[in-house]
Amino acid sequence: MSAPNSKYDPVEVASLHPTQIAQMVEDALLSFSASTNLEELKTARLAHAGDRAPLSLANREIGALPPAAKAEAGKRVGQARARINAALEEATIRLEEARDAHVLIEERVDVTLPSARRAPGARHPLTTIREKVAELFIGMGYEVAEGPELEAEWFNFDALNIAADHPARTMADTFFVDPPENGLVLRTHTSPVQARTMLSQKPPIYVICPGRTYRTDELDATHTPVFSQVEGLVIDRNISMAHLKGTLDHFATSMFGEGIITRLRPSFFPFTEPSAEVDLRCFACRGENLECRACGGEGWIEWGGCGMVNPKVLIACGIDPSEFSGFAFGMGLERTLMFRHGVKDMRDLVEGDIRFTTAFGVEI
Ligand code: PHE
Repeated sequence: MSAPNSKYDPVEVASLHPTQIAQMVEDALLSFSASTNLEELKTARLAHAGDRAPLSLANREIGALPPAAKAEAGKRVGQARARINAALEEATIRLEEARDAHVLIEERVDVTLPSARRAPGARHPLTTIREKVAELFIGMGYEVAEGPELEAEWFNFDALNIAADHPARTMADTFFVDPPENGLVLRTHTSPVQARTMLSQKPPIYVICPGRTYRTDELDATHTPVFSQVEGLVIDRNISMAHLKGTLDHFATSMFGEGIITRLRPSFFPFTEPSAEVDLRCFACRGENLECRACGGEGWIEWGGCGMVNPKVLIACGIDPSEFSGFAFGMGLERTLMFRHGVKDMRDLVEGDIRFTTAFGVEI
């Protein structure tokens, strides 16, 4: 800084010369407008408006001027500062806006884009109904029994009193597994589990066996070559057909609602005697509509088969028929599910389309 000197004229002091000051302003403005982001602007600000900026240094010279010259120099520097500050503010606003606009683009979220989130899975309704049935019977003291799907012909047929010449044993109904001399089939019903259970447990026996079964049917609206049955078996003392009927009625009302009971129609199965078809009170019309689409006006819908376990089967499985008697029943689980939920086409059950499955919700 120069010492006070009464002869000083601000125009004579190089750094306070109007051209110099104008240059400083021009440099500053150029530098601000050349800044492309706030970081660069900060550097430019320190260079042109900071404590060590040329204009600040020039400002210090003013103190050494004679009082008369101070005013003019002060005004010149003040105006220069004002212009620089205004330009700085303008540049700051411009660059802040640019930054914000950039952030908006960078961090933009297109809420209309398809989401990558995966839909939660749902259990297949067949699994759910299988467990429901099992739980219903567990609640009555039954145990769940299981058997192999690849079954010995002997268990699937012979142990159940199904003679070698029985029509069900033809290739037309049964999947025989190569080589034939191994005597293996894909079980055509869950009834072989009856024989397996009786051979491995002593009465009293109360078992329920839901499982997959196979027949050589073409897939259509009412048939599928792979389907499911649920088998019930009770062996105890003094078991009568009344126990069977009571159990079936309870099963039916639990699955389909109050008032939906069963009707037994005489029939024939080699492994039960007497045997019956189990019909279900029509869940659509309850027997009150002669034009009902679901039952064709019958009032009843076929549900499964049942009967008192044939003494020949008891003997084949080492149980004394003079001491014990029992009943058995078997239903199609797909049919049960279709009745219960109004599913019209069996193919929906096997195709595995998630839209069908999720329609049932996540029923537990
Ligand atoms: N297993 C028989 C069928 O598949 C149904 C049945 C089970 C009949 C138990 C009587 C007793 O058709």
